[in-house]
Amino acid sequence: MALLEIKDLCVSIEENEILKNINLSISKGETHVLMGPNGAGKSTLGNVLMGNPAYTVTKGSIYFNGLDIRNESPDKRAKAGMFMSFQNPLEVPGISVSSFMRNAITQKTGEKIKFSEYRKELAANMDLLDLDSSYKDRDLNVGFSGGEKKKAEILQLLMLKPTFAILDETDSGLDVDAVRTVSAGVEAYQKQVDGALLIITHSTRILESLSVDHTHILVRGEIVANGGAELVDEINQNGFERFAGE
Ligand SMILES: Nc1ncnc2c1ncn2[C@@H]1O[C@H](COP(=O)(O)OP(=O)(O)OP(=O)(O)O)[C@@H](O)[C@H]1O
Ligand SMILES: [Mg+2]
Repeated sequence: MALLEIKDLCVSIEENEILKNINLSISKGETHVLMGPNGAGKSTLGNVLMGNPAYTVTKGSIYFNGLDIRNESPDKRAKAGMFMSFQNPLEVPGISVSSFMRNAITQKTGEKIKFSEYRKELAANMDLLDLDSSYKDRDLNVGFSGGEKKKAEILQLLMLKPTFAILDETDSGLDVDAVRTVSAGVEAYQKQVDGALLIITHSTRILESLSVDHTHILVRGEIVANGGAELVDEINQNGFERFAGE
């Protein structure tokens, strides 16, 4: 059974149909890549999967771990093991990185993790992501640079260990070294967690050191092609023109 099974999904916002008959099946252990032109509906798909109420599912089904989650709250989906790193992470004044992550873990697992263990794991992951330890005491994302915000998202991925994670352009706006660091963070997730990834990206740099199992191309709300890792290279060379239609 697939971990995530999307069938004939149609999504609208204020009468506008944004996603049309999306079919997608993701199994544990797999890394999927979603590419497509600006405005194609990639972030919308991520938001819909996470249960963002701004979007209306007009048709189709979403099953996660065998459960119909189409009408579940975002909170329930997160508890069930779904996670999304946002294209534009929100600033959270008044809550430090450290307490935000600890709260999120407690909410997800229902158990308070031992502070000493938590601190140790947080420090190790921050080290992996090349984030100075002082960041854990700063308010989440407040005054963080673009790259630092993206790293804070990957830090959440590593600390929360979701079963399914959507990374929405976590590599955009990163310098060469930061792309490698973030990529190493994603690789660590792949190794540590028996889960699955959906990586939304415009760049192929983050994929260089990651193994990709399936690639999907979204154009104007429709999946127009599915393939393996080689599809990423083709898009990289030729762009989306061959899929653009009339
Ligand atoms: N909350 C919203 N209100 C109005 N329109 C929206 C909303 N969310 C998405 N849309 C529209 O849906 C379309 C798809 O947007 P989406 O953000 O999913 O694109 P994307 O593929 O992620 O693009 P990009 O590569 O630029 O991030 C766009 O035309 C966008 O304006
Ligand atoms: Mg987007």
